Amino acid sequence: MKRFFKILLYTLGFIVLLVGAFVLYIQIKGIPKYPVEMTDAIKNLKVTVDSAHIAEGKRISSMLCRECHYSTETQKLTGSFRADIPKEFGDTYSLNITQDKTHGIGNWTDGELYYFLRTGIRPQTGAYVPPFMPKFPRMSEDDIHSVIAWLRSPDPELAADSHEFPANKPNFLIKLLCNIAFKPLPLPSRPIMEPDTTDKVALGKYVADGMIGCFACHSADLKTLNDLEPEKTPGFYGGGTVMLDLDGKTGVTTANITMDKETGIGNWTEQQFVEAVRYSKKPTGGLLHYPMLPHAGLSETEIKAVYAYLQTVPVIQNKVERYQGK
Ligand code: HEC
Ligand code: HEC
Repeated sequence: MKRFFKILLYTLGFIVLLVGAFVLYIQIKGIPKYPVEMTDAIKNLKVTVDSAHIAEGKRISSMLCRECHYSTETQKLTGSFRADIPKEFGDTYSLNITQDKTHGIGNWTDGELYYFLRTGIRPQTGAYVPPFMPKFPRMSEDDIHSVIAWLRSPDPELAADSHEFPANKPNFLIKLLCNIAFKPLPLPSRPIMEPDTTDKVALGKYVADGMIGCFACHSADLKTLNDLEPEKTPGFYGGGTVMLDLDGKTGVTTANITMDKETGIGNWTEQQFVEAVRYSKKPTGGLLHYPMLPHAGLSETEIKAVYAYLQTVPVIQNKVERYQGK
């Protein structure tokens, strides 16, 4: 019996030691670094900064960047505290993306911005950027160039400003996840073209899956997203991901927006859908809740195309409990 306990004790001690060594290893290793593999075309990229591209970039970024990077204090894109990131990940700030050469991105080349937005790898260091900064692997070349053109534009919100939060210090959980779960995305294997705008379903698929990434919030779990083949994401458009409100406490569950008549939006009219997506208006009155933002930058044609595309997405029966913790 004594011998048995001795063996048990040694085994347990060994396991504790092993776990301790692993924790220490992750703590020291930190966020992993990757080789920066920019092609010559990316290294030499110079986007066209004309009024058409700037306007398009502003439209896209108003839906995809501004919400996180805008500061009410400076009224510029100098970054902000992200209150909606769960507490266990520690405090996270979005950073300064104004044209300031030291504190912002004034010194990044077009190619570096392109590479970073596509892959999530910092071109200067090879460090992977944690998932709180999204990646844009499915956006068309022209749209991503437009976003970069806008970053270069005289938009007053982008004017150089030295306000800066200290660099984020990832905690153990983030380091762990970035080592075992989250990986950088590969560059597109071939250029991503604009959709054929006369093909309603193709346009809707691009807007929903490619440009905005509606599926990312509206599927089963952020951890099981398939970034390269969205339709293979578990619970595709069936909702159920619990997201945090800006108070950092209230859970808001994403809606099932497949065409299921009972648990999805199968009974909605096209017009109700347009009003919800564009202005966050609920068919029953009132407004949809954060983080479902109004997508005023989308045209009516684009939203109707998304509606047409959603008709082709396999229906999922999933009743979502909407608000939690209130
Ligand atoms: C959900 C919030 C969120 C959205 C949306 C978002 N970002 Fe970020 N971004 C962040 C966070 C958080 C960081 C800091 C990441 C880190 O800790 O390294 C960041 C970092 C960056 C950086 C690196 C800045 C630096 O100085 O190192 C750039 C460039 C950037 N974002 C550009 C963009 C652009 C362009 C868009 C839209 C196409 C965008 N971001 C959308 C949250 C966001
Ligand atoms: C950042 C996460 C996020 C993104 C991106 C997002 N949604 Fe939502 N969406 C939500 C949440 C959360 C709700 C639930 C809000 C509520 O219940 O008040 C919601 C609700 C909806 C609803 C209302 C459904 C209902 O039954 O009330 C529709 C329609 C919708 N989203 C469509 C879209 C479309 C289309 C896109 C892309 C253009 C999109 N969403 C992008 C998070 C998101």
